Amino acid sequence: MERIPEPELMEKKEQVISYDEADFSEGEFNLINQINHYLLRKNISFGEKDLIVDLGCGPGNISEKLAIKWPNTEVIGIDGSKEMILRAEYNNNNISTNQKKLKNLSYICSDIKEIKSSNFLLKKKISLLVSNSLIHHITNLEDFFNTIRILSSNITVNFHKDLKRPFDEKSALELKAQCSTKYNEILTNDYYASLRASYTFKELKNFTLENDLASLEVFEEGDKYLIVYGNV
Ligand SMILES: C[S@@+](CC[C@H](N)C(=O)[O-])C[C@H]1O[C@@H](n2cnc3c(N)ncnc32)[C@H](O)[C@@H]1O
Repeated sequence: MERIPEPELMEKKEQVISYDEADFSEGEFNLINQINHYLLRKNISFGEKDLIVDLGCGPGNISEKLAIKWPNTEVIGIDGSKEMILRAEYNNNNISTNQKKLKNLSYICSDIKEIKSSNFLLKKKISLLVSNSLIHHITNLEDFFNTIRILSSNITVNFHKDLKRPFDEKSALELKAQCSTKYNEILTNDYYASLRASYTFKELKNFTLENDLASLEVFEEGDKYLIVYGNV
């Protein structure tokens, strides 16, 4: 199936509300566990000096879980959508999991393409650079990989998870139908657009090989997801 890009930022209020209200917690906890296993395997532990950045953080579901899992680190969620960042801040101020504002978590509204190595973040090196469901929003793959290259140093562990583009339209429609049994129409349509905008394993793998990023591993998780991890 050919890739059909979708708008990068999720800015419509109803889209943001639908996304925020949906329960994706199972996948989110899986992601945190996967990152944790990877860090344990590499003998990496985090403390006060460490900075974790969640790119395309949306309403902050993953950022919050990172901040809870590694409470001594500083966690920053970044999203280019003002509406999403407002939601993420509201969630942390009002309804964070343990009913207390997570003090080690903050948010920044910025397009990932506009983060330059000279700005705010790089006062501290990033120890963990994460994204979930971001890559498919990025129109050109080089914008995503340039960003993680700029933000990474020799200590940065990258962990990025995203949808994998279905093989054909029929498979995409089947996944859309499954989604519609759990989520509302706005979210189901967004999911379908995301599936069509996603990249394939081959596209991601080839990009890393052709652009001096072979130190990053790319692998498929089941038949729905792709993971890019390692050091840049
Ligand atoms: C599908 S949501 C994922 C949110 C969150 N990571 C999660 O897993 O719940 C994708 C998010 O990426 C953001 N995004 C897309 N392109 C972006 C860009 N170029 N710069 C910053 N944020 C971006 C969107 O605004 C949206 O909030």
